[in-house]
Amino acid sequence: MAAKRILLIIGGGIAAYKSIELVRLLRKSGHVVRCVLTRTGEQFVTPLTLAALSENKVYTNLFDLKDEVEMGHIQLSREADLVVVAPATADLLAKMAAGIADDLATTLLLATDKPVLAAPAMNVRMWLHPATRRNVATLRGDGITVMAPDEGEMACGEYGPGRLPEPQAIKEAIDTALKKPSPLQGRGLGEGATATDSPSPNPSPEGEGDFSGQPDFAPANHRPLFGRRILITAGPTHEPIDPVRYIANRSSGKQGFAIAAAAAEAGAEVLLIAGPVPLPTPPGVIRVDVETAREMAAEVEAGLPVDAAIMVAAVADWRAADTAAQKIKKDGSGAVPPLALAENPDILAGLAKSARRPPLLIGFAAETNDVLAHAGAKLARKGCDWIVANDVSADPMGGETNRVHIVSKAGVDSWDRLPKGAVARKLMEKIADELDARLPASDD
Ligand code: CTP
Repeated sequence: MAAKRILLIIGGGIAAYKSIELVRLLRKSGHVVRCVLTRTGEQFVTPLTLAALSENKVYTNLFDLKDEVEMGHIQLSREADLVVVAPATADLLAKMAAGIADDLATTLLLATDKPVLAAPAMNVRMWLHPATRRNVATLRGDGITVMAPDEGEMACGEYGPGRLPEPQAIKEAIDTALKKPSPLQGRGLGEGATATDSPSPNPSPEGEGDFSGQPDFAPANHRPLFGRRILITAGPTHEPIDPVRYIANRSSGKQGFAIAAAAAEAGAEVLLIAGPVPLPTPPGVIRVDVETAREMAAEVEAGLPVDAAIMVAAVADWRAADTAAQKIKKDGSGAVPPLALAENPDILAGLAKSARRPPLLIGFAAETNDVLAHAGAKLARKGCDWIVANDVSADPMGGETNRVHIVSKAGVDSWDRLPKGAVARKLMEKIADELDARLPASDD
């Protein structure tokens, strides 16, 4: 990749030391890096270290820029190709979401017209706090890429999501962000950690409006989900036992990704929350990668509100009650280590009960026996509108086709065996009809 200009804003927090490694990686790739340290960031890393590594002046507060002759804050915020905030503390995210500009970093963030990528780092409770969830959702809605934090043991001794992603992962997210067009130039559900293609903007049926990020759908006038926002979960989840082992299942993610592709083709704004699968992101889809059920639950919440949610993921029902910080070793005695499990949140059932329940909520059920009876019971237990059920007894997960039954209070709609792409497109037609009946599309 050609050298790019990165404006790196370093917030306060113990993870700030990792920004030093990030600067080193960016410089190694040939990028030009300018660092801005917040006042609290200065408590953790020194301007001198950053200046030496970046080989550039380091900016520490607004008054540096009475140097306006050299470079004013507007110019500083705009001469970059990408603005990166790492670590992005809860406080910085809150200020960004509220549009507060009370120091150099936040002023630059408000003044910039360039894409912004934030790598959060904070205590797990702060990350999961409704205020932070709201702020992250607002920022994503504004087109800012907010990476999912890493999960693990924190400096404060607690465990969970909130750790700053590793510098290499931030570097990869930066490379991805540099490849895509500025999200601020369009509108979208928000930006995930992973890139999507850059399809041509899709004009509204009247030829107005900007839904950039969506592919053209052929025939051009057939976009039954135009203007709808759809959230999809897909793939398995991985629940760590120790740094090298995890609990997983055989979900391939193919049906969920096919549904995301069909929803984008049908004109919807699509947020795909994907478990670990090596599948490419369908064109026009905003993808957020997660590992665990709890990360998936947090990203689903951050993605709301939506018109429809389709929960295709095979979420692990249980996780290891305690995750070992180091690889569990055999002690030579032949004794098997105990593996205590804890129940994961039921994302679909939780969404059904939430105040922000999507108007159309769809679950999936892969069953090996009594498919319709299990699906009917699941519909009631989960509180969703439809269950898309399939029999996986003779048809292991990961195949290319599906024979599904759409189970709802209205009855059962059984479809022939079809390729997963065709199931997805047929489902989009049904969803479009249902949404049109429930929520007439607005004119704006
Ligand atoms: N689901 C979820 N969160 C979970 C488990 C399941 O959101 N922790 C969703 C799945 O995405 C799917 C639906 O619930 O849409 C049904 O998943 P399934 O695994 O079949 O349901 P379970 O409640 O785990 O039932 P079972 O006893 O059959 O495993």
